[in-house]
Amino acid sequence: MVVLKCKKCNNKGVITIRHRNITLCKEHFLKYYLKTVESTIKKYRMFTKRDKVLVAVSGGKDSMSLLDALKKLDYNISALYINLGIKDYSDQCKKIVEKYCNENNINLIISDIKENYGKYLEEFKKLRRNLCSVCGIIKRYEMNRIAYEKGFNAIATGHNLDDEVSFILWNLMNGNFQYIKQKPVLEKIHEKTVKKVKPLIFLTEKENLLYSLLNNIYSIHLRIDCPYSTNAPTNILKEMLNKLEERIQGIKMRFYKNFLNKSSQFLPKIDHEIKSCKICGYITSSNVCSFCRLFRRG
Ligand code: AMP
Ligand code: FES
Ligand code: ZN
Ligand code: ZN
Repeated sequence: MVVLKCKKCNNKGVITIRHRNITLCKEHFLKYYLKTVESTIKKYRMFTKRDKVLVAVSGGKDSMSLLDALKKLDYNISALYINLGIKDYSDQCKKIVEKYCNENNINLIISDIKENYGKYLEEFKKLRRNLCSVCGIIKRYEMNRIAYEKGFNAIATGHNLDDEVSFILWNLMNGNFQYIKQKPVLEKIHEKTVKKVKPLIFLTEKENLLYSLLNNIYSIHLRIDCPYSTNAPTNILKEMLNKLEERIQGIKMRFYKNFLNKSSQFLPKIDHEIKSCKICGYITSSNVCSFCRLFRRG
């Protein structure tokens, strides 16, 4: 087996950054990771050191790496964990987040869906709803509500390159152009929305996994996946895209950058009506927002 050497120092390489075609050792990879996060934040003016940033953490490798990187880069951060009460999975994730925040002195906000709204995610099974989409509605609403009420300037999520590329492709394939909003920044568009940013979009799932393992903030042994998302079609697409990447180096990054630069030339401009929910006052395109409809509020 050929052991590749670090391009910077000639020590043993641990990873090849495929779109740059460079191999890096542990030390230079960790530097590269932090530099990429910081340059993405600056390039898209996501936030500055003066802003209060709410980092949404699921306990998985991506958002844990994001939290760690923002802490090391000395941003003004708090963490948010939303407990949806998914059997075994949610408790385990909560413990990972709590441990990290305690050890690193990070203010952690926990939102427990049952305490706040009377029921956990699995109770929506009875209504024959797709739990992943219900989960998405709840998480988006809670992140925004908490950030707004507590005066945060931005919400940061752990979406990575593989998430963005697979989501774009899936929606293109299905003609769901209205869902494709895979931009690094979603600006504030209503008095009660908070800007959302994705500082990890130029890092792959594999790079996040390696960063989290090298920093001991994530363990494959502790890892369990959400029981409802394992068969998600975007996961199948991610596998296929990685096979393509093995043969065509850098194709995922090329696709994403081309999409960012050129998608306005071919995606239809869809202006959703922006209204305030009659029940809670948060953003909606109809009279009552999807969250209030879900919990039958009002
Ligand atoms: P997902 O929707 O599961 O792909 O997660 C996308 C991003 O949403 C993650 O990288 C986190 O930043 C955030 N997130 C997911 N689950 C939670 C959770 N339970 N609590 C807080 N943030 C979350
Ligand atoms: Fe939401 Fe799995 S994390 S359904
Ligand atoms: Zn090196
Ligand atoms: Zn509402």
